[in-house]
Amino acid sequence: MSRKQTTILDLQRMKREGEKITVLTAYDYPFARLMDAEGVDVILVGDSVGSVVAGYDTTLPVTMDEMVYHTRAVARGSEKALVVADMPFLSYQVDLAEARRNAGRLIKEGGAQAVKLEGGTNMAETIHALVDIDIPVVGHIGLTPQSIHRMGGYRVQGKQAEQAEKLLADARAVEQAGACAMVLEAIPASLAKEITAAVEIPTIGIGAGIDCDGQVLVIHDILGLCEKYSPKFVKRYADAATLIRGGIRDYIDEVKSGAFPGPEHSFK
Ligand code: KIV
Repeated sequence: MSRKQTTILDLQRMKREGEKITVLTAYDYPFARLMDAEGVDVILVGDSVGSVVAGYDTTLPVTMDEMVYHTRAVARGSEKALVVADMPFLSYQVDLAEARRNAGRLIKEGGAQAVKLEGGTNMAETIHALVDIDIPVVGHIGLTPQSIHRMGGYRVQGKQAEQAEKLLADARAVEQAGACAMVLEAIPASLAKEITAAVEIPTIGIGAGIDCDGQVLVIHDILGLCEKYSPKFVKRYADAATLIRGGIRDYIDEVKSGAFPGPEHSFK
């Protein structure tokens, strides 16, 4: 049976009905096609593209043009999953007009159905401005990688009572501003549970425990393609690096030995 295109209304329904929401990142057409066909609910074109594809140490250098390019490729590969595109650093923080224009590009040029941006109370006005022109927004609070320099590293957030209170207030502000869902990254599981119960919009956890309404992970992490560093919250479901290395080694060996190309790969 063919599945219809997932919408933000489906996400709200899934929360109400207790059906977990699955989210994975993708940055290109082939990965988007594969995960769409397997039935992932949401594909996030994360600005993590900067780390896992471009090899930067942080997500900060990622540009709007790069996000539009990757979003377009993912949107072409996705028939059913909801495509959410990340707004990169400095594409929404300067002023509301720029935020609207850049979010609009991800929808109009990229083909995304929603955008994601980082921040809580401080970004409520921006979220509202985008929702007001009919651009669905996914919030992102807790460990927000674009704030790496303020946080002093990739650290679990909300461990102290005061920080936890602030995150709860951020979650409420994101919901009140009109977000359709929010990512909770690297916060204690008990706090994520409290936030999930306190808001009506779905929470999507990454390093935020079992009680979130859904889970998101970076595709390169779950496939074992990021060998440099793996956070505690990542579960590796496949060892694609070993498979890829094997294929590359076999190709090199066969070219060197003259085993490839064979007659079946040559023209008469
Ligand atoms: O950029 C990204 O991939 C993300 C997820 C890790 C939530 O923001």
